[in-house]
Parts: sequence; C-alpha cells; structure tokens
Amino acid sequence: MSKFRDPLLLTAGLLLASAHLADAGDVDAGKKVFAKCAACHAVGQNAKHKVGPVLNDVIGRKAGTAEGYNYSPAMAKAGEGGLVWDDTTLHAYLAKPRDVVKGTKMTFAGLKKRDDVDNVIAYLESFSTVAEPAQKASKDEEGAAPAGAKSAEITQAQPAGGQSQTGEKQPTESTGTHFMLGREATPEEIAAWDIDVRPDGLGLPEGHGTVAQGMAIYDEKCAVCHGDFGEAVGRRPVLAGGQGTLQADRPEKTIGSFWPYLSTVYDYVRRAMPFGDARSLSNDDVYALTAYLLYLNDEISDENFELSKENFASIRLPNEPNFIDDDRLQEPYYVDKSEPCMTDCAPGKATIKMHAAVLDVTPEAKGGGEEPTGGGIE
Ligand code: HEC
Ligand code: HEC
Repeated sequence: MSKFRDPLLLTAGLLLASAHLADAGDVDAGKKVFAKCAACHAVGQNAKHKVGPVLNDVIGRKAGTAEGYNYSPAMAKAGEGGLVWDDTTLHAYLAKPRDVVKGTKMTFAGLKKRDDVDNVIAYLESFSTVAEPAQKASKDEEGAAPAGAKSAEITQAQPAGGQSQTGEKQPTESTGTHFMLGREATPEEIAAWDIDVRPDGLGLPEGHGTVAQGMAIYDEKCAVCHGDFGEAVGRRPVLAGGQGTLQADRPEKTIGSFWPYLSTVYDYVRRAMPFGDARSLSNDDVYALTAYLLYLNDEISDENFELSKENFASIRLPNEPNFIDDDRLQEPYYVDKSEPCMTDCAPGKATIKMHAAVLDVTPEAKGGGEEPTGGGIE
C-alpha cells in the first residue's frame, strides 16, 4: 500500500499547482524521455518542424497554432475549441494523445509512466518562455496567471454546446474553474427557443390548418395592418401580389413574388406576428394562416385545402429557382487568383516619403500643379 502513496500525493500536488511546472519533473530525465519524441519533434535554437511541430514555447500555447506547421483538422479544431497546452492538458495528452484529441495525426501511443510525463514536461518547459521566472512571464500575456483562466475556458466551452467538437471529455474537467454564473437551460426552455423551420420542413411542429380557418384568423388578427387581401394598410408590408414585378424599377417583393421558401412564412409568422403580440398563435393557427397566405397569393385556389406538417414540404414557391448557391469562388477570377502578397511586396527597401501632417489624402489629378486641397491631416 505504502508503495502507491507517493505517486498519488504527487498527482494531487500537480493538479493543485498546475502553474508551477518546475516543481514536478526533472529536466535531465526529461531530456532522455524526449528521445522518444525526437523522431518527430525538435526543440531548441534553429529547431524546425519535422513530422510533428516544433515544441519550443509549447506551454501556454493554444493547440494547433505553431506557425508554418500543417496540423490535422482535429488538432486545429481542438485549439479553436479552447485547448491550451498547460501542465494538466499535456499530462492527459502525452498519456493518451488520441483520447484527448480524437483524430490527431500524432501516431504515438502515449507515455505509460507518470514520471516520464512529468519529466518530459519539465524538459519542454525549459524551452518555453512562459515557464521562466515570474516577471519575465508576466510581460507576456500568456503568463502563469492566465494559464488558470484558460483551463477554465476549456471546461466552459464544453457544457455550452452540450457536445465538444471532438465529442471527447476535455482533460481539464476535474480541475477547471466554474464561473458560477447562470444555470443550464432546461429542455423545455431549449424547445421553446428552438423553433426554426428549414425549407425541407425539418423543425416543423405537428399540426394543420385550412385556408378557410386561416381566413377567419387573418381577418381578426392581421387585416388591420396587412389589409383584407394582403394589400397592406398604410406602410405595413404587402403580403400578396407583385408577381412579375421583380425586374421592374420598383419591384414588389411579397411572399408570392419573391420569397423562396414557404418555411420562412411559417417561421416568420410564428415567431413575429401579429406584430406586438408575437408567439400568441398556436401551431395550428400558423398552419392555417400560412395556407391562407398561399391562397391570397394564388398558389392555392381551394378554400378547403389543408396545410399540415405532412404536405408542407411539397409546396414550392415560384421564385425558388431564382435563388442560387453563392458560387463566386468557382468563378475564374477567384480560381486563378494566387495568394496575395503580404510581406516585402515591392522591390527594395521601404522609405517614408511624406508624413500625414502634409500628406494630401485626396489625390490630385496628375500634372495639375495645384496646391494640396487641404485634405491632409494637420
Ligand atoms: C511519430 C511521430 C510523433 C512522435 C513520436 C511524437 N509526436 Fe507529438 N506530434 C506529432 C504530430 C504529427 C503532431 C501534430 C498532431 C496533429 O496535428 O494532429 C504532434 C503534436 C504534438 C503536440 C501538440 C503541439 C501543438 O502545437 O499543438 C505536442 C504537445 C506533442 N506532439 C508532444 C509530443 C511529445 C512530448 C512526444 C514524446 C513524448 C511526442 N509528441 C511524440 C508527431 C509525433
Ligand atoms: C399591428 C400591425 C400588424 C399586425 C396586426 C400584423 N402584422 Fe405582420 N407585419 C407588420 C409589420 C410592421 C411588419 C414588418 C416588420 C418588419 O419588417 O420588421 C410585418 C411583417 C409581416 C410579414 C413579412 C412580410 C414581408 O414581406 O416582409 C408577414 C408574412 C406578416 N407580417 C404576417 C402577418 C400575419 C399572418 C398576421 C396576423 C397573425 C400579422 N402579420 C399581423 C405589422 C403587423
């Protein structure tokens, strides 16, 4: 039993004092362990990326961000998701890389011995500016104090979406700080909020309603603003008509003439109408009103037509084909474009020719010989 006590104590100490990396491991021993990494990683002056990225300054660094190295999407995502290399995250990663970053291209099974992990981290630390004495570290934003805050970000990021990008447990869960603000949304709250409807009908609630039912609701709740036939009162939006006007100087954009998808009608009315009393309609009311709006736009002629969750997606609005995916990136102009030059683009050394105090912001016509027009910043 006593054999195990020490490593356990050491573990506890590490978790509590993650900022004090130097306490944990032995740099010289770590150098030997690093022999296992050296096939793929370099450290020290003039280190270059090999199979894996250079590991200088890795401590305190966001995962997947060493410049000039081509990470796996998994590692890049983990970094975007808030994974920062500190004592805790490195312990987890080096023990089982693929448990921490699922899909990482680091094909290394992991270090089995806790001591090896401690020591190799101590060794890496000796190539990281963050780990140097406090004053030096703190002039760098990534210093010892923020390291704790970053761990907190990781644990935060996880419950936020309910699922982390990789579907993995983030390694700092056991030690991260909670901010103790708010509470998790209940399923009911999420359901009340999550009401968007997709063009293919995904997200529609159960329900149905006929044109005739919609007409009655419309007359009572909508006509006061949108007119008896959707022609609008005052400056409220017109809800019907306008077909054939899209190419005119003043196109009339209505549900019938312009809107691409019926799902938008359902979603909009359910979410926002009647103006001033939003979310007061039942799901059936909204089906009935949507059916009636189709009727007002001559898309449906039968007053007994019933719109429902089942037949909803079969109805297409006439202007849908005129909405196309943005394919500009396939156009020759973009396809042929090479990467823009970002450094040393002009030949020779840059020289300052004029200062803003006299620089004329609005260029003159060439050869005019006029005085600057006073556009400069004095
Ligand atoms: C067989 C090659 C290989 C070995 C051995 C290896 N690594 Fe890696 N390592 C990689 C690759 C490749 C990546 C990039 C992973 C990715 O992009 O998914 C990586 C990534 C990392 C990262 C993340 C770096 C960053 O910038 O986000 C750390 C930390 C790391 N390795 C540490 C180690 C340590 C310490 C060892 C030795 C105990 C080791 N690796 C052994 C190939 C290796
Ligand atoms: C008190 C006045 C008022 C009432 C009542 C009202 N609306 Fe509206 N409606 C508006 C206004 C104002 C807008 C424009 C809102 C905006 O653009 O932000 C609008 C926009 C709309 C639109 C989008 C039109 C477009 O082309 O952008 C639809 C569809 C709509 N209403 C349907 C209805 C339905 C159905 C009802 C009855 C349940 C209703 N409205 C009741 C004032 C009203």
